[in-house]
Amino acid sequence: MHTPLTLPGHHEYLSDGWLDEALAFTSREVQRRGFHLAPCSISVCLENAPPHLGFANNLASWTLRFSGQEVRVQRAFDPSATQVIEGDYQAALTQAQHIGALIPGFVDSCNQELTHLFGRDALRVKGEVPHTSVRELLALLHDHMGRRTVENPDLEHRANRLGIAHKVREMEEQGFTILERAITPEFADEVRAATLGALLPHNAVQLQWMLYHGRAFERLVQNPRLMTLIDVSLGRGAVIASLSSIRKGTGPGFIPLHSDYSMVPEPYPEFAMTGVGVWALEDWTLRSGPTWIVPRSHLWRRGPQPGENVEGGIPIEMPKGSVVFFTHGVWHWQGDRTDPGERVTLHTHFNRGILRGLEPKKIDVQMLHRNAPRLGEMLGEDDWFDKLTAEGRDHTRAAYMPRLHHFSERAKARLMEATS
Ligand SMILES: [Fe+2]
Repeated sequence: MHTPLTLPGHHEYLSDGWLDEALAFTSREVQRRGFHLAPCSISVCLENAPPHLGFANNLASWTLRFSGQEVRVQRAFDPSATQVIEGDYQAALTQAQHIGALIPGFVDSCNQELTHLFGRDALRVKGEVPHTSVRELLALLHDHMGRRTVENPDLEHRANRLGIAHKVREMEEQGFTILERAITPEFADEVRAATLGALLPHNAVQLQWMLYHGRAFERLVQNPRLMTLIDVSLGRGAVIASLSSIRKGTGPGFIPLHSDYSMVPEPYPEFAMTGVGVWALEDWTLRSGPTWIVPRSHLWRRGPQPGENVEGGIPIEMPKGSVVFFTHGVWHWQGDRTDPGERVTLHTHFNRGILRGLEPKKIDVQMLHRNAPRLGEMLGEDDWFDKLTAEGRDHTRAAYMPRLHHFSERAKARLMEATS
């Protein structure tokens, strides 16, 4: 088995440390609740695990058994277990990061997005544990582990399993790419309603700190495909610069041609420093007032001069639930809207982890508790900046983040090589 690429207390999905933690939690809870159970078991077998985990044939499996007061965990798959789950590792890992297994309706909504992302057969469940108390315990185990389960650090493997390797190549070459229908229309409607609920009619056209307006935004900001683009472009440990909403009525665009590199000296560096994913919560057409982007303008490595005009800008047309991610200082502006009504958008603006952002990080311990480590990372929880104590630096984080960068940058290099 490989050396863990995680902070203490975090685990890669189905790694040895993950299994040890699952056993410890479950044993503790069975004792605490005084269970005396008839024998039952849950067994999982997942294909296409990332190679660095070292599983034979990249098959990740485990079995959890209950009998009386005893709990056992085994690495082997048991197809005759009471409940059997088979499928794709990355799909199961995505599901593992959804926390809130006992919230009415939450699992159904998350599973709808999971099916949208990976297809109906990505995870197949047979059988059911007969005891209500065990089902509840399994839900609590799911959430307990989800708080500790990190995203797949192998960017090449992850981009391929998420079907966006070609999008990564396009992003690097053009300075932007579109993830069409990255979420379901139903979830897009939920986010739109939540956004309007936060904006309220009397507010200005723009509002920041949208992360703190409810779970819809916490879920949206962790979208696995968009986060994979961000990981590739801005490196692991990229942090939220701002999560803002904009409401745009009929009329001329009010954001002129610009790049998002604020106060960055020219020439811009060869690596990307900041990127923005704009979520379309309605269909984006030429008439709806879409963002316009100048493809490959990031290669100029400078921002537009005041009053400068440019040829070659294109409108970003995409269906509801899509997200356009532009990065690397690419030039863009807000288009004119001729349609009636309003365009409502969510802008997930991320910075490379070494940069400051618009929004000060406000750490809400409940928010961290109801999300996977992915959310903490984008709030700066996993790096060593701003962590100095009377005892000195956070050496654990100072060692962890460069190790993660080294691993993920090599994976990015393989990905770019494979798609060249
Ligand atoms: Fe912008």
